[in-house]
Amino acid sequence: MIAIKSSKEIVKMQRAGAITAEAILAAGEAIKPGMTTYEIDKVVHRYITSHGAKPSFLGYGGFPGSACVSVNDVVIHGIPGPLKVHEGDIVSVDVGAYIDGYHGDSCKTFAVGEISDAAKALMKSTEESLYLAIEMAKPGVRLGDLGAAIQKYNEDNGYSVVRDFVGHGVGKNLHEDPEVPNFGKAGHGIRLAAGMVIAIEPMINEGTMGVKILPDGWTVKTKDGKLSAHFEHTIAITNDGAMILTKPS
Ligand code: CO
Repeated sequence: MIAIKSSKEIVKMQRAGAITAEAILAAGEAIKPGMTTYEIDKVVHRYITSHGAKPSFLGYGGFPGSACVSVNDVVIHGIPGPLKVHEGDIVSVDVGAYIDGYHGDSCKTFAVGEISDAAKALMKSTEESLYLAIEMAKPGVRLGDLGAAIQKYNEDNGYSVVRDFVGHGVGKNLHEDPEVPNFGKAGHGIRLAAGMVIAIEPMINEGTMGVKILPDGWTVKTKDGKLSAHFEHTIAITNDGAMILTKPS
């Protein structure tokens, strides 16, 4: 069942979204060569808790961090730890914040120092496809329309779309209905309606779409060891179109 949020609820979700976005920005400002993924997680944890919110991911399904910190060929769900990031790496910081009964969920991929043109192009395509879908999202548009647009944009740029993980509704729960695939067929799937809140989160691979889960049960890597980028926003569907909730206040 898809929960339709009232405008009061959406105002609360804007607050959760702002803290989420600001925590990601704080991490992005802190990231430098030699920093561990644990230290990146600490920046996120400190930002969220010092603003009266709770990290949505901490303890979720037993996840040990406040952020998923995914480096290079790690697609999603990287566990913060002793791994150091180096000049030339790309690092995705996926964050959720919970306050006043609602969650925000967002992710950005950052460059560590100077990165290759290939890595820059992958990040650019992934981020642009997210904004393309956000621009399209409004009442009456189908989820398949969004998925098809994200898929086409990235495939036209020579990349592949991860199939094993998808976006989702957000609200009182971090993951709610509906599933929001980053691939699909235009004209298929449910129609968006005002009051729906969804997280759109393209996970785009430089090589093939295949992924594997490491024995830790969390870390998702590309099968071919090539790079992956991930951008995500939580958006509310309104009669005027999509409103990004995960933006700084
Ligand atoms: Co998400």
